[in-house]
Amino acid sequence: MSPVLEAALAGLSRKPKSLPPWLFYDEAGCALFDRITRLAEYYPTRTELALLRAEAAGIAALLPAGCALVEYGAGSEDKALILLDALAAAGRPAGCYQPIDVAETALRALASRLDARRPTLPVRPVVADFQTPLTLALEGPAVGFFPGSTIGNLDPPAAVRFLALARGTLGPAAYFLVGVDLPKDPAVLIAAYDDAAGVTAAFNRNLLARLNRDAGADFDLAAFDHRAIWNAAESRIEMHLVSRRAQMVRMAGRAIAIAEGESIHTENSYKHAPEALRALARRAGWRPLRLWTDTAAQFSLHLLTAA
Ligand code: AVI
Repeated sequence: MSPVLEAALAGLSRKPKSLPPWLFYDEAGCALFDRITRLAEYYPTRTELALLRAEAAGIAALLPAGCALVEYGAGSEDKALILLDALAAAGRPAGCYQPIDVAETALRALASRLDARRPTLPVRPVVADFQTPLTLALEGPAVGFFPGSTIGNLDPPAAVRFLALARGTLGPAAYFLVGVDLPKDPAVLIAAYDDAAGVTAAFNRNLLARLNRDAGADFDLAAFDHRAIWNAAESRIEMHLVSRRAQMVRMAGRAIAIAEGESIHTENSYKHAPEALRALARRAGWRPLRLWTDTAAQFSLHLLTAA
């Protein structure tokens, strides 16, 4: 059984039904996510980029010379380049850049773009699932980089597990720069996850389209509403697909009953206040060193140290 079918069957037989967010990122899903990052309502990407640009020199000043910059879940090189250029401008260039991602084709494309953009920078792509234990051949003192608030897509125990794994991979002298979206006005959050043009709705429904393509399912995409909900108690945005009617879906020869109004929970996006993120980091063995936020307090960058 393929991993996609296995994950879908497990999630849809749970009560309440859920699907893991990694299923979003097939080729169509990656293209939709790329459009999300450019939406007016989706503030995280541009806010983090601006924050990185504004603070890059100060961040670089705290990092070791000749470091190996290890980016977790690298979809694009743009954020890493800000750090790499700041390190070079400070006269302490990174020794190499090691982007890690499961999507091999996208990772190879990133590496060849970087070869063209920064020909002297050694790039060592690693095809791997960063939530599993990894051994890296590090070419210098390790600096982990986990931008995009992807940590928010892990529930708190999984975030601690990931941070602890990264600490083991990066070693006892490592630094870790983590981009984290902040709690804010729920109206701003809901608009970011339910945009007027319907791109996030299409991203959410693409998950069902993917199950039709890759797991032999017959979901009628028009029979599901996209919902973005702010769960204040958990400090997270939840995305759901809510069935408009009672229906029977077939997937790889099995029948799945879905009631009218029943939800399939597809994603959590936790918004961690600074102290909440620091607590998760400490539980994983990291020591919080510095915090940067933009002036509107929308997004944060945490620098952690293993020492
Ligand atoms: C990848 N991740 C950090 C995004 C987020 O904001 O949680 C995924 C996303 N889902 C809907 N819009 C964006």
